Amino acid sequence: MDYSSVDLHNIDQKHYLPTFKRYPLAFKKGLGSRIWDVEGNEYIDVLAGIAVNNVGHCHPKVAEAISKQAHELMHISNFYVSEPQMLLAQKLAHLSGLERVFFGNSGAEAAEGAIKIARKYASKNGRGPKIIAMKNAFHGRTLATVAATGKKAMMNGFDPIPEGFIHAPFNDFEAVKNLITDEIGGIMLEPIQGEGGINPADQEYLEQLRAFCDEQNLVLVFDEVQTGIGRTGKMFAHEHYGVKPDVMTLAKGLGGGVPVGAVLASEKVGSAIDWGDHGTTFGGNPLVCAASLAVLGVIESENLLQEATEKGAWLMSELHDAKEDFPEITEVRGKGLMIGVELTLDAKAVVGTMLEHKVLANATAGHVVRLVPPLNIPMEDLKTTLEVLLKSIKANR
Ligand SMILES: Cc1ncc(COP(=O)(O)O)c(C=O)c1O
Repeated sequence: MDYSSVDLHNIDQKHYLPTFKRYPLAFKKGLGSRIWDVEGNEYIDVLAGIAVNNVGHCHPKVAEAISKQAHELMHISNFYVSEPQMLLAQKLAHLSGLERVFFGNSGAEAAEGAIKIARKYASKNGRGPKIIAMKNAFHGRTLATVAATGKKAMMNGFDPIPEGFIHAPFNDFEAVKNLITDEIGGIMLEPIQGEGGINPADQEYLEQLRAFCDEQNLVLVFDEVQTGIGRTGKMFAHEHYGVKPDVMTLAKGLGGGVPVGAVLASEKVGSAIDWGDHGTTFGGNPLVCAASLAVLGVIESENLLQEATEKGAWLMSELHDAKEDFPEITEVRGKGLMIGVELTLDAKAVVGTMLEHKVLANATAGHVVRLVPPLNIPMEDLKTTLEVLLKSIKANR
């Protein structure tokens, strides 16, 4: 479509709910790690739709699968099964070892599903409904997931916020232990906090949480909405730790750009859900599931777990080396292609300068530049990204 005569930002200001502070940019086309604005300017995209376009923009295999499915069958209700949904359920169960799957449309919905499953299991097993979540977490913007996230700034004016979440400092097992009462039914966390500033969990911490949940019959929920689907160099981030959750959420990278989320549960915990306990109209329709199957196929056929591991290791090592000449870099954190560069500077200003050099990145948690490129980003683009990041740090000294 040709939008060249349309003032998109004027429409945005007039008609879109003023929830996002937008850049003065409108995009029209993407391919791989590149994206073009309506004026035809080309950018390298290391934000990837906030860790969504794991196989790159408009991957031809994903586009083809969507197109084929769109001509065959896009939507039925969940009163019936479809081939794409069943094959995707089977594939995810296989990959994760979590036997039960439910599809929704977003990360927040997946997290809502996880909360419901955990509470239902707890209610059937003599424990209370409260969930311990972590400080600095992010689980979404619905009322329950805002409560799970626990940030006051996201709650202002939205009372009553659902009850039942208690927050412990991240990576502090003793703090979790001290909060345990019979009222607690589960523990929910991101194996690597994304929005909170790319904070990986410690190995011992996850092991202790797993052992404790087993001992107390608590549900351990990993929110892998951002870390899942190859982002960290493994299909799921918890594989780095060898610690398996009872319930796991997925979204973002799962659809390669189409809105799909999933909550997975072990047979033991998932079987607490009864007929009629949960539902969705759109969730897991044939169109999005066909896209997801194509995404998972591309990750396998293009060896993207290895690509993410190798490229991420290269970038992290370059960034570590750069610390010598750039004292503004205080820490480099992450796994695979989920990297946070902590600065003494305002990360937003640095990201603004990167944009002037035609690289799309993102600032999170105030001082952290977040790099979450497509897993198949060419080395050449990654090298340019590094150059531009360092140049932008210098410019903001
Ligand atoms: C770990 C995590 N959980 C949940 C969400 C919410 O996902 P969505 O924006 O698709 O609702 C996000 C989004 O950034 C996330 O990073």
